[in-house]
Amino acid sequence: MVDNQHWLDRWKENRIGFHETTVNQYLINYLPQFALPDDAAVFLPLCGKAQDISWLAQRGYQVIGIELSQLAVEAFFAENSLDYERSDSERFGVYRSGNICLLQGDFFDLNAADLSGCRFVYDRAALIAMESPDRPRYYEHMLSIVPAGSSMLLITLEYDQAEMLGPPFSVPTEEVYQQYADSFTINLFESNSIIDERPRWRKVGLSALTESVFRLDR
Ligand SMILES: C[S@@+](CC[C@H](N)C(=O)[O-])C[C@H]1O[C@@H](n2cnc3c(N)ncnc32)[C@H](O)[C@@H]1O
Repeated sequence: MVDNQHWLDRWKENRIGFHETTVNQYLINYLPQFALPDDAAVFLPLCGKAQDISWLAQRGYQVIGIELSQLAVEAFFAENSLDYERSDSERFGVYRSGNICLLQGDFFDLNAADLSGCRFVYDRAALIAMESPDRPRYYEHMLSIVPAGSSMLLITLEYDQAEMLGPPFSVPTEEVYQQYADSFTINLFESNSIIDERPRWRKVGLSALTESVFRLDR
């Protein structure tokens, strides 16, 4: 079972194969299309210590991330040589550095007020970190906290779930439409077969792997 402890253990044991050492190319390619105001607030659910956090902050955006693992949050600041101030609220450890605010705690404890004014959600390896039985709660919670007028860049993976346990978990494109189409206008930017780029996953048994990139507007 992939519960909170699973993720805390992975960080403790440095089993973080999901972490990209460079900024995500889809973020770089597609962000301009969202035409965000210069200092827009952007939200990264389940943000880990992604390079994308500092890349967005360097572009002037107000970055809000939420991450369960204190190790991950503190590694982010250390690896980016950023000083931070930490204050604790009832729900979160709050780490601030310039225009970055990382909340250390559970995504499901966020409320709409925490994200009021947020214009953009960047969901990379967040939805797909959730097992199928947990995803309805994830979609529902995302919808309850994301403001009207916001947009989302969503990256998913799709494969035969019988071939690999995950995480990452397979999220069928139809599911994205089923769960989000009532609340968002959805556009598929691109969908690519990437199995040849992931030989490790072919080795563990995957025969096909598709990565999809969506734009959602609320
Ligand atoms: C697959 S990783 C992706 C991290 C990041 N988005 C990236 O692209 O590198 C998923 C992250 O979500 C965190 N996480 C899992 N469940 C969470 C929850 N309920 N609330 C906050 N963070 C969570 C994990 O600790 C982990 O760092």
